[in-house]
Amino acid sequence: MADHSSPLREEPINGLKPLSNADGFSLPATGNDLERVEIPYTGGQPLEDADFEDDDDEEEEVEGEYVAVDHDDVNEYPYWFRRPPVHHRTKLDELHPFVQVLTESNVDDCVKVEQAFPEHERCSREKFLYRLSRCPELCLGLFTLPILGEDEPKPRPTLVGHVIATRTSSPVVTDKSMELPPKWQEERMTVENGEVVGHDEYGSTIAIHSLAVLPEHQGKQVGSTLMKSYIQRIKDAQIADRISIIAHGPLVPFYESFGFDNRGPSKCQFGGGGWEDLVCSL
Ligand SMILES: CC(C)(COP(=O)(O)OP(=O)(O)OC[C@H]1O[C@@H](n2cnc3c(N)ncnc32)[C@H](O)[C@@H]1OP(=O)(O)O)[C@@H](O)C(=O)NCCC(=O)NCCS
Repeated sequence: MADHSSPLREEPINGLKPLSNADGFSLPATGNDLERVEIPYTGGQPLEDADFEDDDDEEEEVEGEYVAVDHDDVNEYPYWFRRPPVHHRTKLDELHPFVQVLTESNVDDCVKVEQAFPEHERCSREKFLYRLSRCPELCLGLFTLPILGEDEPKPRPTLVGHVIATRTSSPVVTDKSMELPPKWQEERMTVENGEVVGHDEYGSTIAIHSLAVLPEHQGKQVGSTLMKSYIQRIKDAQIADRISIIAHGPLVPFYESFGFDNRGPSKCQFGGGGWEDLVCSL
């Protein structure tokens, strides 16, 4: 049993008051208190059956296996150790989502998702084919799979949202970076007036050309989850200096919430213009 007369229980822990149903418990004040009792390694045997004879050799072997827990006091912390984390199910949870790099096999899925854009802003099927074959590592999808019954065959996952990008040497998205090189199937890189058309494999900016979510799944945090996951992956892979995107005014705060800076009006005339340049430095 814990010593209830201990002065520790009167003190708030890290300035926090104990919860009302945690009366009478106390947390150790220092790291040394945690080392009062060590639970020995039993090699999978129940504690009561384990042979705890003093054996120097054995002790040396299992030194790293000791757990710094005051075993006598474990029952004093039921609230802290056993309460499951609170998680309210969201609409996103209901999709059982997973993210995955896209490949050429996803072209038709992307064409479907792209219908989220007004027609004049949509990427063509051929552009998807070009981008997914040239730089699939820069294209990420969020998929959903229904929960399966026991003998049901695994269906094809549904693409719910995508991020499609290429590289550019410019710090912001340019019209040239959004274009489809006319001879992309024959030429590795196409240069016009000193500027690479489409994907510039030496560019250190990742230019996002499309972030879209199927209309029926918008407003469920799919877009923001996908965007966070995308940025994190690119950061972790250390493959670029920045991620750039163009967006219309109402979506600027959406991108700013992920760390993009608004660099003002974009020179891009794609889809009629009126875009803002946004840059996320990595
Ligand atoms: C923009 C888009 C990708 C957002 O995806 P989503 O899954 O619907 O967004 P989320 O559910 O993650 O929403 C995140 C936040 O962004 C805001 N937001 C989403 N779409 C918005 C829009 N069109 N205008 C302004 N704010 C928007 C939401 O208010 C939400 O904030 P909240 O969580 O505080 O309510 C999606 O609406 C879409 O595909 N739109 C059409 C294509 C498009 O415009 N793409 C962007 C090109 S720059």
